[in-house]
Amino acid sequence: MTMVPRIVHRLETAQFATAAAAVLRTLMREAIASDGECRIVLAGGRTPAAVYEVLCTLADIEWSRVQLFIGDERCVPPHHADSNFAMIERTLVSRAAIPPDQVHRMRGELDAAVAAAEYDRIVAALPEPRFHVVLNGVGADGHTASLFPGDTSITSEQRWSVAAQAPAPFAVPQRVTLSLRALNATRHSVALCTGDDKRTVRRMILCTEEGTPSLPASLLRGSEQTIWCVDPD
Ligand code: 6PG
Repeated sequence: MTMVPRIVHRLETAQFATAAAAVLRTLMREAIASDGECRIVLAGGRTPAAVYEVLCTLADIEWSRVQLFIGDERCVPPHHADSNFAMIERTLVSRAAIPPDQVHRMRGELDAAVAAAEYDRIVAALPEPRFHVVLNGVGADGHTASLFPGDTSITSEQRWSVAAQAPAPFAVPQRVTLSLRALNATRHSVALCTGDDKRTVRRMILCTEEGTPSLPASLLRGSEQTIWCVDPD
């Protein structure tokens, strides 16, 4: 597969959430128009929250035609303060008219291996393309979802979802995550990477099209587009 060069949107901080939501809206409407539905993976962490709050206010997204998935989850119950799904529910699911059976969360309350096997079956059953849009966060160490530097299985893992271990100091070590194979089984890959603490990793990743397992986020690719929404630095 030819590597799709990254498209970098440098967005002013004040407009970041609105501009990133507009990028997602366009891709979601495109998928619904062409395939009748949009299968989208949402990211956890803090950065996407403001984007979701804008996204769910955009009236021209047919939420009844959206299938919602998640990139990774911390092994906590769904309403726990550290739950990625809790954040997504608060900022988007509770406000957008997505039919509940089209919201596919990772069950962080289960044993990580059990929850990962369950989600692996869900993703394995999806038609091609498995996802139309995958939204990813990026950590200052270059991790994405719960794929952390030093994990030697990142590029060889064939399962769609696996149990993972977050190194200190990350909250909740036990994790469930989509594999790199799953994160890249998408037409459009979108990464959000803002903040001064991520300036160095942003430069290391965006200065070359080559990816490296030591910076898992550098390996993110879509089959049609690889979009990075970053600060204007
Ligand atoms: C998680 C996330 C993780 C996140 C990055 C960036 O479970 O923590 O999925 O991969 O996207 O750590 O997080 P921030 O947006 O909070 O900087």
